[in-house]
Amino acid sequence: MDIKKVVRQHAEMEQFFTGGFAIKGKTPTSEPPKQEDNMTAAEKAADLERIAEEVSQCRKCSLGSLRTNTVPGEGNPNARIMFVGEAPGADEDAQGRPFVGRAGRLLDKVIAACGLKRSDVFIGNILKCRPPENRDPAAEEIISCLPYLQRQIEIINPEIIVALGAHAARTLLDNTKSIGQLRGQFHEYYAGLGRPPIKLMATYHTAYLLRNYSQQNRQRVWEDMKKVLAELGLPIPEHGKK
Ligand code: URA
Repeated sequence: MDIKKVVRQHAEMEQFFTGGFAIKGKTPTSEPPKQEDNMTAAEKAADLERIAEEVSQCRKCSLGSLRTNTVPGEGNPNARIMFVGEAPGADEDAQGRPFVGRAGRLLDKVIAACGLKRSDVFIGNILKCRPPENRDPAAEEIISCLPYLQRQIEIINPEIIVALGAHAARTLLDNTKSIGQLRGQFHEYYAGLGRPPIKLMATYHTAYLLRNYSQQNRQRVWEDMKKVLAELGLPIPEHGKK
């Protein structure tokens, strides 16, 4: 089964049926959704909050009954950069916030090395609930959960997505390449019918970096982030360390 294809078709179908078509015989009761670029930060925040609320009630897969908290993601609704990780771990499950454990503290350092604050970016995950023992996300979990992230990306409409690790990169790019093959170059994330693709930089997950904390791997992540900063026209701090 091609999971990504199923998810994409599902999302496109959902969009087709909810994207402003009135149901025959009825008049639309609400305004059609606004284009993201015309939305204020407050409107985007409200839409993101609605998704977080839906996520908090979600029982689409078995992780729903195992979680302590859902972890919908957080950050700036107008973020130019959106980081996407794999799934919450124990700390994130306990707090309901993304990247707050050891891998999160390293991500904070990466963000700071870029001359940015956590509140400048948006941080999310492919899965919104913790898989037991931090095992890899299962296909059916990704299929159930990915539409939430796709909607978050649509609302935020970031200029660049930074996919942290193989699971995030493969899922968003719909391929099976290794992170070694994917990292270090810009790819295109297709955000839906009729929408321009969003640039995606794949890099190592900070949890991987912690386990393999070599100068070479840290340098690779920093090189990847420098490309992101350059693409956005942001200054590249001299001191940049990852
Ligand atoms: N690892 C992830 O992929 N996501 C988190 O939120 C934390 C650790």
